[in-house]
Formats: sequence, C-alpha cells, structure tokens
Amino acid sequence: MTNHVLPLEPIPLEPIKSGFLKSMRLMKQSYHSPLEHGQNLRREHGNAVMQKVGKMRIVHLFGAEAHRLCLMNPGQIFSNKKAWDMIIGRIFPNGLMLRDGDDHRYHRRLMQAGFKSKPMQGYLGQMIPQVRSAVKQWSVQADGKMLAYPAFKQMTLDLAATIFLGMDLGDDARKISRAFEVTVAASMPRIPMAIPGTLLWQGIRARQTMCDFFLPQVAEKRLGDDQDLFSLLCRATDEEGQGYTDQEIVDHMIFLMMAAHDTTTSTLTSITYALARHPEWQTRLEQERQSLGVEALAYADLDKMVEADWVIKEALRMYPPLSTLPKFSNEAFEYEGHLVPAGAMVMTYPIHTHYMTEYWDKPREFDPLRFSPERAEHKRNAFSWVPFSGGAHMCIGLHFADMQIKLVLFEMLKKFSWSVAEGYEMPVQQSPISKPRDDLPIYLMSKT
Ligand code: HEM
Repeated sequence: MTNHVLPLEPIPLEPIKSGFLKSMRLMKQSYHSPLEHGQNLRREHGNAVMQKVGKMRIVHLFGAEAHRLCLMNPGQIFSNKKAWDMIIGRIFPNGLMLRDGDDHRYHRRLMQAGFKSKPMQGYLGQMIPQVRSAVKQWSVQADGKMLAYPAFKQMTLDLAATIFLGMDLGDDARKISRAFEVTVAASMPRIPMAIPGTLLWQGIRARQTMCDFFLPQVAEKRLGDDQDLFSLLCRATDEEGQGYTDQEIVDHMIFLMMAAHDTTTSTLTSITYALARHPEWQTRLEQERQSLGVEALAYADLDKMVEADWVIKEALRMYPPLSTLPKFSNEAFEYEGHLVPAGAMVMTYPIHTHYMTEYWDKPREFDPLRFSPERAEHKRNAFSWVPFSGGAHMCIGLHFADMQIKLVLFEMLKKFSWSVAEGYEMPVQQSPISKPRDDLPIYLMSKT
C-alpha cells in the first residue's frame, strides 16, 4: 500500500522583528563579518530569514541547498542583473555578471573566445617573465619583511595591463592604473551617493577615463591579430558572424579587469598566510614543485600540481573572496517550507556554507587533505564549496585564476620560504572582497 503524503503548503516568510538600532547593527555586521552575521541569524531564526530595511526586503538563505536553488535558478526565478545593478551597476553597467537569460548566454558565449586553451597558453607564456621579475623585486626591497597584500595587488594590476590589454600603457600608465584602482575601490561604496567628492562620484569619473581610453582603440584591435583578451573580444563572433558593439567591448573589459583583480589578489594573500602558518605545507608544495623538474611552468604542468590544488581550494574555502552572493527574486518561490516573496534581495553565503559542520570536518582548521580523493569532503554536497559561484554565472575566469595563482606559487616557492610573526593571526575584512586589514606582514627568507 502506498503511503500518500500530501505536500504541505509553504508558509509565507515574515520579516524578523527588529527595531531601527538592531537593524543597523545587523547591517553593519553583515558588512564587516558575513560569517558571524550568517551564523547568528541562522542560530536565532533558521535557514530562511527575512529582514525589512526601509522598503527593501532582504532574505538570507543558508545551506548548500540554498546555493543549489539560487545558482541553478530553475525557471529563471532569480535575476542577477537586478541584484548586481543595485550594488555595482553605476560603475560596471552591462558587465557579464549584470545580465540575465538569453542576453547573458549570448554575451557569455562570445566571451569564451578569450578563455579557450590556446589563448590561455599564450597568457601563461606572457605572465612568466613578469611574475619572475615582480618576485625578484621583493628580494631587492626586502629587509626580510614585506606586506603581502599590496605586493600581490601591484602584481595583478601589472599583469592585467599586459595580458588583458596587450599594451605597454606608456605615458598613460599612471592615468589608467589610477582610474582602474578608483573604479575598483568605488565598486561597492559605503556611501552609495554620487555627489562631488564621494567615492562613487570619483568612480564614475574614473570609469569615464577608462572608456575614453579604450573606445578609440577598438577599431584597430578588430583589424589586428593580437592575442590579448581585449583583441580577442574585439574579434569574437557567433555562428551568424555577429560580434560585440564597441561600447559592449569596453563595458566587458572594464568589468573583467575588476572581476579578476581583487579576487586573485585576495586568494594569493590568503594562500600566503595559510602557508606561512603551516610550513609543513610549504615544504610539501616545494617538493611537488621540484618533482615537476622544470625551470619554467608549462601549461601541461598545471594539472600536475595536485597538492597545490588542494591548498588553493582550502584557502578559497576558508577565505572566499566573495563571501556573499546576491540574487533578486523575480517571482515568489519556496525554500524549505517557506514562501519567499517576489521582489526581494536574496542573499546566500558561500563563507557560511564553507564553515558548516554538516559538510566539513573541523571547518575552522586549515586542512587541505580534505580535498584529497580519499576524503573528498567537497563531494558530500555539490554546492557546499562555491567560491566561484555555480550554474550559468559560474566564474568564467576560474581557470585563468587557477593558472595565475599556480604560477605565482611556483615562482615564490622557488625563490623563498616565508613566515609570519609568532602567534600572528590575520585580521580579515570579509566584505565586500575579502582582504587582510593589516596588509599581511610576512618575513621572506631567500633561497638563493
Ligand atoms: C580566485 C579568483 C576568483 C574568484 C574567487 C571569483 C569569483 C567569482 C564569483 C563568485 C562569480 C559569480 C558571481 C555571481 O554568481 O553572480 C564570478 C563571476 C565572474 N568572474 Fe570571477 N572570480 C575570480 C577570478 C576571476 C578572473 C581571473 C576573471 C577574469 C579573467 C573573472 C571573471 C569573472 C566574470 C566575467 C564573471 C561573470 C560570469 C557570468 O556572470 O557569467 N573572475 N567570479
């Protein structure tokens, strides 16, 4: 006999009751420490929590299944565009992440031209001398002590100029670097008002400087045969021979530079910290590097850096550069028996899921072996490890990031060992993009 169980009607989610001061405290905590914020909310209210801030409804969903729902986006319940437009739309309008549905699919398909294995091999070849010279500079400057975060930030910025733009910026270098830095800094401003003097105002002007610089170069790049990302996007076409417009190329380039920059800097910084705290892993990675038996990293070597891969994954688990992912509900939907209304900002929390004991053994411990085939904790649920998001909007640059990080690690391990002061713990600002509050002071010991 079949046991018929009638599905229960989902219960409409109601906003939690909090006065003005508590709402402000929660907002502040969500900005400074999304992990703690998420853990507190979930402990008090469960896996679905709604807050009302002014007229806006913010819904927090917890757990790997929340990521599965929001990232797989069945029936296009969620809009990425509406969510991200509210956050970074003034400075990065029309970036790939700020598009939905067919429009997003079309733009993403064209962009793949810049991320196939042939151009990737070219980028690697170009990056090697630049990374080497940057790492060498550290030893020149160093009295042993170095601030890791700004060093990586400078390196990724210089790499973006060559790999992404394919140009020696010459006299424009300072102007463009500065404009780029301002757009990135202004991408998620605390004061979201564009009045003279505010960061957002400066960001909008800096964006214009970048547009004015890139736009006139599109025609020439379309005709040339250069292999930098900018040129590849200029020439990318679909099956019908249709390509991006000039303005679309510029919008994509400005977004790409931002998307690649702080995220990779953040990851390199947290890996450096973790390896300084765990010298046994530095030794393991150095042994793995030596076992490759090469002076210069080749594209085929990337897959052989298996233990480096576990370390990168573990650093991304503990310190995901994007700790939260916003989506906007186009229509009402159900999550774990709750009916979530249309028109809400829906937040999921990679950082929270990455610390849930339901999926991870001792999640506060740095333990790269959890990603080994024997333990494979990340396979307990396909959506428990989501530093690169998932579904249609999964990071298009994840292999690029992996390649760049492995190259920097390879060159660093060859030249140095490094440590942090006894008892040091990195103070992390988890949002908007994870970074150390103190720039991560490390001590470099030269091997040559
Ligand atoms: C460790 C480094 C990186 C991390 C952790 C990271 C993380 C992410 C995440 C979480 C998203 C999805 C956001 C969403 O669901 O709305 C995303 C999207 C994106 N990322 Fe990355 N990213 C990294 C590096 C890069 C690099 C190096 C590039 C370019 C070379 C890049 C380009 C993009 C683009 C274009 C998108 C939008 C994809 C789409 O909407 O289809 N990212 N990234």
